[in-house]
Amino acid sequence: MSANEQPRVYITRRIPDAGLRLLADTCALSVWQGEEPPPRATLLRELREADGALTLLTDRIDAPLLDACPRLRVISNYAVGYDNVDIAAATARGIPVGNTPDALSETTADFAFALLLATARRVVEGADDARAGRWTTWGPLLLLGADIHHATLGLVGLGRIGAEVARRARGFEMRVLYTSRSRHAAEERALGVEYVSLEELLAQADFVSLHTPLTPETTHLFDAGRLAQMKRGAILINTARGAIVETEALVAALRNGPLGGAALDVTDPEPLPASHPLYALPNALITPHMASASVATRASMATQAARNLLAGLRGETPPRCVNPQAVGHGRSAAPRSWDALGT
Ligand code: DGY
Repeated sequence: MSANEQPRVYITRRIPDAGLRLLADTCALSVWQGEEPPPRATLLRELREADGALTLLTDRIDAPLLDACPRLRVISNYAVGYDNVDIAAATARGIPVGNTPDALSETTADFAFALLLATARRVVEGADDARAGRWTTWGPLLLLGADIHHATLGLVGLGRIGAEVARRARGFEMRVLYTSRSRHAAEERALGVEYVSLEELLAQADFVSLHTPLTPETTHLFDAGRLAQMKRGAILINTARGAIVETEALVAALRNGPLGGAALDVTDPEPLPASHPLYALPNALITPHMASASVATRASMATQAARNLLAGLRGETPPRCVNPQAVGHGRSAAPRSWDALGT
């Protein structure tokens, strides 16, 4: 490799300019222009020639792909979640994987709260009625919903996003319960949240909001049995990952109880096909995985992803890295000529 050779970077979708600008001067960029993810064959062909990849949650990065793309020395995922990447496979090959945890917590929490409010107070049903000419009078029994203020909110997971949801709930004077693998004593004091078991949370919460990564332990955590433990009329909010909830069991729990409603920004499968029975249920609100979609947050995710990528190309640990143990061996330790790249 010559000293002047620029690292080749493949970006699997158009991202905000803030991130592209950080990379454009120092890297030879190739950006997939499609609205849909690149097909697997394209991903393989492009990444075979790439030193770095800026990927999305819609790209599957697994061991066969990493083996087919031997130049690849860093993966920067444009998301906080990284369940689309086989982290063990990347680590074994010395490939650091970056993510964007700092950029989107508040924006995602805002959206989780928007879903909670919209579902409890039947905002979309009301707007649909008005638009369709079904608003004929004011009625004492029309579109009655559930109160949010002073209700009990149960958070499954109290990471960055869960904690931001708790902060917002305080403004509504909600009682906030949380469950997670470990206790968060500082947040309990700062946010006034109470730690309980998942069973207690399900028995007590009027609203349950999911803020846990998708792992083998959380896949289908909300199956028919768990959904049956929820309070009658409770509302489930999912802005985390679709597969945490078993979709068919959710349809049944919305039809037959105990659930009063569900708001899903993430689904399994994703996208949820237009023919899916969930769309026919008036108490289900589905949005297309858009919780982090604010102009400022998507730009900040792009900046963070670009910085992670540049650090990985330099052979350093990306500022936000999910497998720092990958750095210093295998591909990240291979000779390179980009030590000052982007600094
Ligand atoms: C993430 O970052 O993991 C979200 O799902 C998309 O912003």
